[in-house]
Order: sequence, then C-alpha cells, then structure tokens
Amino acid sequence: MLKDDIIKLLIREAISARKNAYAPYSKYLVGAALIVPSGRIYTGCNIENSSYGLTNCAERTAIFKAVSEGQRHVDAIAIVGAPLDVGLESEDLEASQEDFDYAYPCGACRQVMAEFLPDSKDIDIIVAKSESDYRVLKLEDMLPYTFELV
Ligand code: THU
Repeated sequence: MLKDDIIKLLIREAISARKNAYAPYSKYLVGAALIVPSGRIYTGCNIENSSYGLTNCAERTAIFKAVSEGQRHVDAIAIVGAPLDVGLESEDLEASQEDFDYAYPCGACRQVMAEFLPDSKDIDIIVAKSESDYRVLKLEDMLPYTFELV
C-alpha cells in the first residue's frame, strides 16, 4: 500500500475508534490507530476515570492492545482528537469551524511509543483533524534524548 493510502486508512480507523472514547470528564474524544509490519491494524480510544489520574490515552490503549496480542513493533500510528461537540463522523470533523489543535501525544505516550516504534524511518506519527488535515511527525523530533536502560 502507498504511504498516502496508509496515512488515510489509519486516520479513518482513528476517527472510527474515537467514537468509543469514554471521556465524560474532559469531553475531549481521542481515537488512535496503528499498523504493525504484518499490515494488521489496532485501534484505541481514551478511557477516563473519576479519579482522573487513571485515565488512559488513546495511543497507549492501541499500543497496549497490540503488544498484549504479541506485537512488538509499530510502524505508524494516527491520532485524532477533538472536543465532543465537534461531532463523531468524518464529515463533522471535516466541516468543523471550531478552533481546536491537533492532539499531540502526551509525554507518557511518547515514552511508550519510544519502546515500540524504535528506528522508524518512514511514517511514524500522524496527528490529524480529518482525512485531509493532518501532520506527519517523527518520534525522534518529539522525544529527543529518550530514556533507555542500555
Ligand atoms: N488524550 C489522549 O487520549 N491522547 C492524547 O494525545 C492527549 C490527551 C486524552 C486524555 C484525556 O482523556 C483527554 O484526552 C483530555 O486530556
């Protein structure tokens, strides 16, 4: 599959996963979709908790799902985050006039990504508002001097 096709596919999957976000406290819904070398896709959403600190971000949900099913390498991950009132469908995100920024991964998620997206030279991290509005980022730019045990 072409790079652009993979990007758009991952964004579509992330938009779909965003519909499952459990975010009654922030009302900010996030979906993530990642692809592993076999071509399989795993998705995740943010899952909040009344004790706020237990919240799990969409990226980590997707990564932990993949790793818990035996995957050890992520080729690329797309993240779509927007307030609930923007809407759930692709068309809502596309048409939104609301001024929201891309959902850049938090520091904890960047460190978890560093574990499973090492030495990625191709697509890496896609932050998207819609299928037509996205940025492609490199993990090494987002998390320089990553902590490593060895
Ligand atoms: N969140 C994510 O799921 N991923 C990000 O990249 C940034 C933040 C979630 C956590 C929380 O449920 C909500 O967005 C607001 O911070």
